[in-house]
Amino acid sequence: MKTRAAISGDLRRVTGLIESPFKTYLQLSLLLVTESLEPALGAFALKGLLDAFVALNASLVWRAALVFFGVTVFGALIGGTGVSMRVRLVEELARRQREALMRSGVEMPLLQFEKLPRGDLASRLTSDITVSSRVITECYLLARVALRAFAAAAYMLTLNWQVALACALTGPVTLVVSGTISRPINKRSMELQTAIGQVSSEALNTLEGVQAIKSFLAEDSAEKRFLTRASAVRLAAVRMSSVFALNAAWMGTGSLLPFAVTFGYGGYMAVQGRLTIGGILALVSLCNNLGWPLAGMGRSLANVRRSLGAFRRVTEILDLPRDVDPVPADGHPEQHVIESEWDLPPDANLAPVEGAAITERADSLSRAGTTDPSADAIPEPEDAGLSITVRGLSFEYIQGTPVLKDISIEIPAGSLVVLAGKSGCGKSTLIKVLAGLYRPYPGTVFIGDRDLHYEASWARTVTLYLPQEPFLFSGSLRENLQLANAEATEAELRQALSIADALEFVERDEGGLDRKVSERGSSFSGGERQRLSIARTLLKRGAVLLVDEPTSSVDRESEERIWSSLLLAMKGKTCVVATHRLEIAARADLVFVMDGGRIVEYGTHADLHMPGTVYSSLVGETGGVMAG
Ligand SMILES: Nc1ncnc2c1ncn2[C@@H]1O[C@H](COP(=O)(O)OP(=O)(O)O)[C@@H](O)[C@H]1O
Ligand SMILES: [Mg+2]
Repeated sequence: MKTRAAISGDLRRVTGLIESPFKTYLQLSLLLVTESLEPALGAFALKGLLDAFVALNASLVWRAALVFFGVTVFGALIGGTGVSMRVRLVEELARRQREALMRSGVEMPLLQFEKLPRGDLASRLTSDITVSSRVITECYLLARVALRAFAAAAYMLTLNWQVALACALTGPVTLVVSGTISRPINKRSMELQTAIGQVSSEALNTLEGVQAIKSFLAEDSAEKRFLTRASAVRLAAVRMSSVFALNAAWMGTGSLLPFAVTFGYGGYMAVQGRLTIGGILALVSLCNNLGWPLAGMGRSLANVRRSLGAFRRVTEILDLPRDVDPVPADGHPEQHVIESEWDLPPDANLAPVEGAAITERADSLSRAGTTDPSADAIPEPEDAGLSITVRGLSFEYIQGTPVLKDISIEIPAGSLVVLAGKSGCGKSTLIKVLAGLYRPYPGTVFIGDRDLHYEASWARTVTLYLPQEPFLFSGSLRENLQLANAEATEAELRQALSIADALEFVERDEGGLDRKVSERGSSFSGGERQRLSIARTLLKRGAVLLVDEPTSSVDRESEERIWSSLLLAMKGKTCVVATHRLEIAARADLVFVMDGGRIVEYGTHADLHMPGTVYSSLVGETGGVMAG
């Protein structure tokens, strides 16, 4: 049967998560056999004790009491061992799943990750893993109930086969009905977990947007949206619990059947002298393994299915492809090198402006207009000045909707290039492709002589990417900075902070570098966050600096400070900067003007700033900032 194959496939995958599966399963098997025999042993001891009482034989009573005591202590020890072993197994599975899920989130292509709803991912990491890590334990409990019932039934047969048989017959009937009732639980569990994922996503979405919701007076609609999701969870939970309730009701009835049979039929046999009093009580105590435990078996079966449902939600993420550099057909990515340095393919949409030329790049410090002596201490990249060549690059987030269209540009090593264009024209996307965050296809992107389609992960080692919204992790400032370079010394950290114009406010706080950063760095202003982010970028060595509108959400004063830090950071690197700042465009060796995902013009600021160009329409009448 297909579902059975799927279930055994899932169980094999769970096994794959255990560190030493052979040893674990051996221990569990030994425990299982011992725990399964324990009730039969207990019933045997109880029968001996009661029959000794009835026979009024004092020495027999003492001996039987001693055996009974021994069996009870043994049972308690085994029970305790079993619980602790199962808890350890559950925790191990939870840890391994968390690890694997986290790794898969971090290692999947960024594009794919960005499409996953965060709340849903968080709920897979928490509630799904909590449920799914119990899967082996639930299987164990299921097997223990079955084996205990088997051992009990075997001993009951030796006591009185007619009563035992009558009693045992009640079991399968109870089980078959319960199995049928609980079948939909697997599906219902998936539905419930999905609904929980959606409500978490909505909650996160609402909480992160509280400011926007308040400012648009959208509290009611936000609440309504959330309530719709919350109602879906309630509905899914009710649907699932109705199956559990029906199952529980049936098992309540089914579990009483063997007792009724044993007392009724066994009592009749005792009256006829074919069964002792100890025998009846032993049978009743063994019935405990056929009645309630079978009810538990129904529940365990339902729980196994529920755990597997949750596990499948975990594996859905684990099975998403990793961001692995593809190996070219000839097996040699290093041979996919660029052929010539400067031969832009003909591009109908590219309208180079008359006179456009790459100007010789002057010393970047003079460009920055600063003479800060600390700039001399900026770590020089080992392979300074890598050129960038983009040919026929297109890119789409959603299939069929390209946001970059047939882009071809050349950026000489060590130059400063500005990307200009209206919001939404594709600047950030292009920068992320250059940063090796999105794999270029179709078209090619070379940094130096290496093809990013095959070596995007290498690109991440040589590029320094400064995003529009800098991200600080919760933890200490030092940890945030050392993310870029774990071996950075105290002096290097301070130096980077000083260049990024961040040392002063870091030192002003008594925590200094050990100051705690709250979630997402909310304890710092936008400008401070960006300067810290620049310091972090400076600590990473790399030949290409990619800057994406770093001052779009900071005040004017911060903007000035950030740009002067950035201009220092640009020393000795190839720089691509998306910005609306005219001042930077004026300093740039080359400006590429983008519109609707295409490069529509390129040239220096002076070349482009002429009547009739798209660039001049961007510059318009505004002072130091382009429209966009
Ligand atoms: N993660 C994404 N998923 C889908 N579309 C996106 C995503 N990011 C950006 N876009 C779309 O791609 C286009 C270019 O965006 P972007 O590169 O951010 O432009 P810019 O930085 O020039 O403002 C826009 O139309 C935007 O809506
Ligand atoms: Mg952008």
